Amino acid sequence: MEGVFVSPHPLVKHKLTILRDKATDSNRFRQLVREIALLLCYEATADLKLEPRTIHTPLAETEGGQLSESIGLVPILRAGLGMVDGVWELIPGAEVWHIGLYRDEHTLRPVQYYNKLPVEPRVQMCLILDPMLATGGSAVATARLLKNWGAKQIKFVGLIAAPEGLKVMRAEHPDIPIHVAAVDDHLNNVGFIVPGLGDAGDRQFGTG
Ligand code: PRP
Repeated sequence: MEGVFVSPHPLVKHKLTILRDKATDSNRFRQLVREIALLLCYEATADLKLEPRTIHTPLAETEGGQLSESIGLVPILRAGLGMVDGVWELIPGAEVWHIGLYRDEHTLRPVQYYNKLPVEPRVQMCLILDPMLATGGSAVATARLLKNWGAKQIKFVGLIAAPEGLKVMRAEHPDIPIHVAAVDDHLNNVGFIVPGLGDAGDRQFGTG
């Protein structure tokens, strides 16, 4: 599907396989979420712009490049929280803005309970972080919130997506590229991705 990038990297596939395994405990699960998020964001930021910078090595003067775009990480609580640390190690200058959404168990519609965006958007690129793109409701609502607030360039980074959620997100926000580790088979009748990995929030925070 256009605008959807599934990581081809063997490290991502290897780590995702362990993540899916129901025998994987919370501690290892959190570590893997962090590592896969880092690898996916590495791929998602491949088009970041650089400005030239002259530096002096111990031997000579040379031309290098430094990031000219600032980045905002937008984790959707709770499950997106576990993706922040890995990405932050990679891009220590990023700002982090938390959006609190949960999915109503019956309607499956996102309910917002927290928003910590600064008054004005201060960055060029926003990365929405959420492990699961299921019906797509949470990602669509977060993208709308960011656009209403004035964010220009937005990307979505998730671990697993359902075809149903991808379709909705692409239809509502065709300008937002989607980077994931895998696209799974389908959503079941209670809105869980199959085969998926279960509940990403519960498995990270031990609340299942
Ligand atoms: C899960 C997940 C996403 C959302 C995806 O959150 O982390 O945010 O559901 O579903 P959607 O694509 O159908 O909107 P959940 O409601 O379980 O909250 P939690 O992260 O606080 O556990």
